[in-house]
Amino acid sequence: MNDDLDSRLGRRRFLAATAAFAALGANRGATATSTTAAGTPPAGAKTAGITTAGNTATAAGGPPRPLPESATKTICVLGASGAVGNAITRELLTAGHRVIAVSRSADKLGSIRAAYGTTKRIETQEGDVSSDSLAAVLRDAIVTRFGMPDGVVASLGAREVDLPMRMLSTPTETLRKAFEANFFTHVAAARALVPALAPRGVYVGINGGMADLVVPNRGQLSMTQSALRTLYSVLAMEARDSQAKNPDVRVHVLGLYGLIIPYAKYDTHPDDRWISDRQVGERVNQIVTQPQAFPDPAVALKAKAYS
Ligand SMILES: NC(=O)c1ccc[n+]([C@@H]2O[C@H](COP(=O)([O-])OP(=O)(O)OC[C@H]3O[C@@H](n4cnc5c(N)ncnc54)[C@H](OP(=O)(O)O)[C@@H]3O)[C@@H](O)[C@H]2O)c1
Repeated sequence: MNDDLDSRLGRRRFLAATAAFAALGANRGATATSTTAAGTPPAGAKTAGITTAGNTATAAGGPPRPLPESATKTICVLGASGAVGNAITRELLTAGHRVIAVSRSADKLGSIRAAYGTTKRIETQEGDVSSDSLAAVLRDAIVTRFGMPDGVVASLGAREVDLPMRMLSTPTETLRKAFEANFFTHVAAARALVPALAPRGVYVGINGGMADLVVPNRGQLSMTQSALRTLYSVLAMEARDSQAKNPDVRVHVLGLYGLIIPYAKYDTHPDDRWISDRQVGERVNQIVTQPQAFPDPAVALKAKAYS
């Protein structure tokens, strides 16, 4: 799984993202200030990825952290096989929650389960959120098997649409596919799962700092990420209005401004345009467990260069 994670952060994507975020820094006159992100990694982390020994998880080379036996909250992670969802899953488990990892792939779910050794708090569920009907099937499976979750994290997207796209020479259908993968998956997931949250449940959508950036040849990323932020802001308002069935639930969007890097790589090759995957997971855990500390639905986690 760790090799997979590394390969996902391939050179093409890395170059595209760092160039884009460098432009963001230039546009905003960003300076390197200390990051507000939680979970500054300690020095000395050497190995990437997850290792497990019994119920102890070593997250990407950090010191071993015991996995508590008892679960505090039940949190569903959509996109748990992805670079970001993987880290969120790990941190939520480390924080003591029961995590329902969701993927379309039984093989990927098998790898996720295997990565956490003997802990009983990792659950897996196959599911697809590419349409309302498929998302409803997933919701029913989750509620039937595990009850209404206390939290849902949507870390959804597709690498296939992270390609150079020049707007006037890109067929509309190609742009539509980018929206299908990066935006409408979030819509279908939220439509199915926000109403399925337990009382005082928290829904967290993940998006990227490209929401604030317009980059030639990568317009599809800016458009989908800014649309996601708007989507979640609307959902947050509607969750609290008088028509909401369960007005105690909260919706947040966590915007990640920087390239997400495995913890050990982040520690050994410091780069102020990076965020460690552990910081992301820790921030999600804070939102899910202390939502009152985040009065604004939009929460940002910024690499130093974009602070
Ligand atoms: N990686 C970064 O450096 C970075 C930086 C800033 C922001 N972000 C944001 O973080 C979020 C996740 O990005 P990522 O890099 O982790 O992407 P990723 O590695 O490509 O993972 C995306 C996940 O989405 C899932 N998914 C896609 N379509 C689905 C569907 N129809 N039904 C169910 N699951 C589906 C995939 O699961 P399966 O294929 O297993 O079903 C996969 O686990 C995005 O919003 C992205 O903008 C990422």
